[in-house]
Amino acid sequence: MRLAKYLAEAGIASRRKAEQFIVQGRVRVNGLLVKEKGYIINPGFDRVEFDGRIITREEKVYILLNKPVGYICSVFDPQGRPTVMDLVKDINLRVYPVGRLDFDTEGLLLLSNDGEFTNLMIHPRYEMTKTYQALVAGKPGEESLRMLQEGIQLEDGVTAPAQVNILKAYKDKTLLEIKIHEGRKRQVKRMCLAAGHLVISLKRTAFGFLNLQGVAPGKYRFLTPEEVNKLKQYAWSDRG
Ligand code: URA
Repeated sequence: MRLAKYLAEAGIASRRKAEQFIVQGRVRVNGLLVKEKGYIINPGFDRVEFDGRIITREEKVYILLNKPVGYICSVFDPQGRPTVMDLVKDINLRVYPVGRLDFDTEGLLLLSNDGEFTNLMIHPRYEMTKTYQALVAGKPGEESLRMLQEGIQLEDGVTAPAQVNILKAYKDKTLLEIKIHEGRKRQVKRMCLAAGHLVISLKRTAFGFLNLQGVAPGKYRFLTPEEVNKLKQYAWSDRG
């Protein structure tokens, strides 16, 4: 394996930046300075040091968390609110949220220490479908539903087409299922409001083909290698 790739996978820097570190003489292999950026190592055998620190590659982990309302999706909150990290404290690895759910949004959130995977999952180019259940005030009529489906003007531009279905109609509120593949800040709430309906509560029920089955609020499970591969293939596949 290339030394730069090893450093990148250990979370030191991007592959390109890691190559610069090698050329700058900040990396040693088995105690010897290596300045050749294409240098090949045997990961299970060679001892790599960066700035004098021994570097070990972290095992990659992929977690599906059922986030409850009242947790913030960041590693640290200056306001001292609970973070999703509090829910995965027993994992001895640094993981990060894959995208975000608002403090008052619940549901499916992925966490991982694999930067490449995170990028694949959140980049709009890869069109990962996110499914939400939004309880909205009032009864969206045909016009509101059409606006949501075809794309609606928000302050940061028109949204891409979405799939919208009415799941349940109450007297003065409606449960909608909304499928989007963008991931703009507070997107579903802003879309619904722009269509004339305030979101009362919001839950992400699916991410691609993954759902919350068997994972209670506040609990998590590890994704299987098959699920991780399927997610990557799903992102890479050309879905026109
Ligand atoms: N859309 C929102 O408005 N909020 C979320 O947390 C996720 C999607």
